[in-house]
Amino acid sequence: MTHDGLKAIDRRAFLSGTTGALAASLLPGSATSGDAKRRLVLAETQASLVGSGHPKTRVWSYNGTVPGPELRFKQGERLQIEVENRLPQETTVHWHGIRLPNAMDGVPHLTQQPIARGGKFVYAFDLPDAGTYWYHPHMLSSEQVGRGLYGPLIVEEREPIRVDRELTWVLDDWRLRPDAQIDDGFGNMMDASHAGRIGNTVTINGRVPDTVAVRRGERIRLRLINAANARIFGLEFAGHEPIVIAYDGQPVDPHRLKQRRLDLGPAMRADLVIDMMGKPGERFTLTDSFYRRQAYKLVDLVYGSESLRETRLDATFALAANTMPEPDIGNAVRHDIVFQGGMMGMMVERQMGGGSGSGMGMGGMGGGMGSMRDMMHSGRIWRINGVAAEGHVMKPMLTLERGKSYVLAMTNMTAWPHPIHLHGHSFRVISRNGAPTRDREWLDTVLMSSRERVEIAFVADNPGDWMFHCHILEHQAAGMMGVIRVA
Ligand code: C2O
Ligand code: CU
Repeated sequence: MTHDGLKAIDRRAFLSGTTGALAASLLPGSATSGDAKRRLVLAETQASLVGSGHPKTRVWSYNGTVPGPELRFKQGERLQIEVENRLPQETTVHWHGIRLPNAMDGVPHLTQQPIARGGKFVYAFDLPDAGTYWYHPHMLSSEQVGRGLYGPLIVEEREPIRVDRELTWVLDDWRLRPDAQIDDGFGNMMDASHAGRIGNTVTINGRVPDTVAVRRGERIRLRLINAANARIFGLEFAGHEPIVIAYDGQPVDPHRLKQRRLDLGPAMRADLVIDMMGKPGERFTLTDSFYRRQAYKLVDLVYGSESLRETRLDATFALAANTMPEPDIGNAVRHDIVFQGGMMGMMVERQMGGGSGSGMGMGGMGGGMGSMRDMMHSGRIWRINGVAAEGHVMKPMLTLERGKSYVLAMTNMTAWPHPIHLHGHSFRVISRNGAPTRDREWLDTVLMSSRERVEIAFVADNPGDWMFHCHILEHQAAGMMGVIRVA
């Protein structure tokens, strides 16, 4: 039986549960019909984000749904998709986390011409690594992603692990007006200089969630994707012990969540295995507590009367490693990278001794409140090694030699957390604040706290000009972006 066949059966079983109507919304918007795997059409549509009793929301969508269709391929398969743009703006599609050829990376003007209104573009590339990825525009991303353009891209392992059910949850955070329409104030300086466009309505798979029906004994693989512009999620699973098996699509030694909270910045993913060991009829709340004093209930897990099994499923869940080349850290070339800017950035720079290590220092920003005003005025609020990006085409901040190992020693000299993303590669996170990381996890997007120092290592094996940027989309638009060239 094909994997799709199995999913169909699971879905029917799920829908026959007590909360069928709501449960349906927690499944992917639409499974990969053969057609979605070949064609994505961008258009405006109406979506019932907030649910009954509220007006529908005008959104931008891929194939008429938010999220866009869940694209599923097998590891090693080739993705070939024609994208047709019926939106009032130019666009591109970026396949976040996939190690693909540079020309397919979807960065406007840098790797391709934008897809014009009414235009088409065919993306075609192989999928070297299994894992949980996603796709989204790389053009006016704050607005285009903020209006609903994103979808999951799942690359299945050749040997899938055994679970009873697999769920993909694409998390998003919308800024809606009382009439449930999207607030148009994209790109304002207030958001750009602070935490980004934090919204007021959190959805899972395009719906404000209520409950998820589960069964005692059931083992679920939960693929989480943070598609929000700016919100960082800090998920706590009361009464359960999720095991992390992958971050950003890349397998990690399976481990229980530290401190019982999973922090996921924008663009980050995690694959969890959860054994549902509550009792029939019990109810557990999944809480997002990332922003202190603003914790809220994300969704409730509700046990139906039926029990699937009484003890944990006895099956392994370690995933086979992908094919990433191992960096030679002892002989790696080191580069320092300093992130600066934003509200209260001057204060942090003074405390940390601005510019230590980089030699780039204040990057000509001068200091003092006058320059903060200038920054706000010009919209160039954030800097990487002293440079605030304007658009995607820029002089490379680093040129790396193809095939060599590199360590990037990054310092967040700002008052805000930033999820930092590198295109075209995955990297190991080898240290935080000077201490080796336990998991040496492979990521493509690493969340840095204010004042934190993080070292990442990778082999620069994919030639081309690759974006390196904060995935808080308002920070990216306000300068927090650079180009790393591999030649
Ligand atoms: Cu998810 Cu530069 O992107
Ligand atoms: Cu940022």
